[in-house]
Amino acid sequence: MAKKRPKIVSSANGKLNAESWDKLLRHKVWDKVPEHIDANKDVLYMEFGVWKGDSIKYFAEKFKSQNSEFYGFDTFTGMPEGWRHMQKGHYDLSGNTPDVKDNRIKFIKGLFQESLPGFLKNLKQNSKDKIIIVHLDAVLHSSTLFTLFKLDEYINSYYFIFDQLGTDECRAFNSFNEAKTKDYDLYLASMWNYGPEVVFGKYKN
Ligand SMILES: C[S@@+](CC[C@H](N)C(=O)[O-])C[C@H]1O[C@@H](n2cnc3c(N)ncnc32)[C@H](O)[C@@H]1O
Repeated sequence: MAKKRPKIVSSANGKLNAESWDKLLRHKVWDKVPEHIDANKDVLYMEFGVWKGDSIKYFAEKFKSQNSEFYGFDTFTGMPEGWRHMQKGHYDLSGNTPDVKDNRIKFIKGLFQESLPGFLKNLKQNSKDKIIIVHLDAVLHSSTLFTLFKLDEYINSYYFIFDQLGTDECRAFNSFNEAKTKDYDLYLASMWNYGPEVVFGKYKN
């Protein structure tokens, strides 16, 4: 029986600044991910939407195995489309990738639509055999939908984290789930203004 009702680990209402957003909505979920995935195991972590690298660094600190791999996909020149209050180019880092000391973290620059197909085609079986975690934080419907469909060509089962399921990432998640027959569980969620926001779950097949 699929678990479609995640455990609600926090909820907040009203406007939040970046710091309280992280503290109240993201970290409450992120901190509990190792309760579901043994943090000593080898993971293949792929993050879609990296910006300054806060989230990829956070997960690399949690999953300490030297055999774990962390890939962060981003244009590093900002959003390819405008979104609500954000203009195209929001989150621009002039093409510079974040500074990281952990050599397990690698950045893959460019549009997902251009970089992901080749990346997945060349991904070694040994990497695919690790526990796979996919962190979706691109905000946009187009970017999220593309990523879900492309991943599905190569990977059946994986854990997922959505950063903002309350908006367009949700539309992509719904469209993908309607189009495919994949089954999934939802484990954890934080709520913002009475809707799910940061959500952790797993595609099972
Ligand atoms: C909200 S930010 C990521 C924040 C980051 N995860 C963090 O925790 O700080 C969203 C990022 O997604 C990237 N992005 C969105 N769509 C993309 C696409 N199709 N290809 C590459 N990067 C994309 C943007 O450039 C932006 O840096």
